[in-house]
Amino acid sequence: MTGIRLGFAMCGSFCTLGAALGALRRLTAEYDVTPIMSETAYGTDTRFGKAADFISEAEKLCGKSVIHTIAGAEPIGPKGLLDLLVIAPATGNTVSKMAAGITDTAVTMSAKAHLRNERPVVIAVSTNDALSASAPALGTLLARKNIYFAPMYQDDTENKPASLVTDLGKLPETVGLALRGRQLQPLFAAR
Ligand SMILES: Cc1cc2nc3c(=O)[nH]c(=O)nc-3n(C[C@H](O)[C@H](O)[C@H](O)COP(=O)(O)O)c2cc1C
Repeated sequence: MTGIRLGFAMCGSFCTLGAALGALRRLTAEYDVTPIMSETAYGTDTRFGKAADFISEAEKLCGKSVIHTIAGAEPIGPKGLLDLLVIAPATGNTVSKMAAGITDTAVTMSAKAHLRNERPVVIAVSTNDALSASAPALGTLLARKNIYFAPMYQDDTENKPASLVTDLGKLPETVGLALRGRQLQPLFAAR
């Protein structure tokens, strides 16, 4: 254990939640991790799994309750609770809100509160409109201070030509570098 405190915020990219929990497991071996979920991720059952199961797995891995409200996330800023915040998976919805300065979920509140302290945020994008409707938001966040991205790739150019997903296997390395103020490259990796 490094004594470094991470937040691990999960959004409603439901097909990615299982893989995100795998990445969370790896991070808990090295870091003290606080789990966070958007209200959508926390409260929605889908064909990819039941919310209660994802919540209980995240709480088991971290040994802490999931933060899932704006009020629950707010102390991250004033109390300086985290050294780095991971958002994985990050939806098109959440990155677009972050780019626009909209703070109306537990995850966007966590990011706003944490960025106030000028500490790093690592984003792991998973959205089928990354290269269309969400592209302006990605561009905005790429140019913003203290924001880093885990390497991404196009997962299905034939059927979802605007889709990008993250190589979650590279998340630990991305976090390690972001803690030192550096972006892991290449940002757009081959699959
Ligand atoms: C089954 C299902 C799968 C979804 N997968 C994704 C996804 O992979 N990426 C994404 O950006 N949105 C996805 N969405 C839509 C988001 O859940 C929706 O935009 C939601 O408002 C996101 O809220 P959040 O960003 O606060 O978690 C999915 C929705 C459903 C019901």
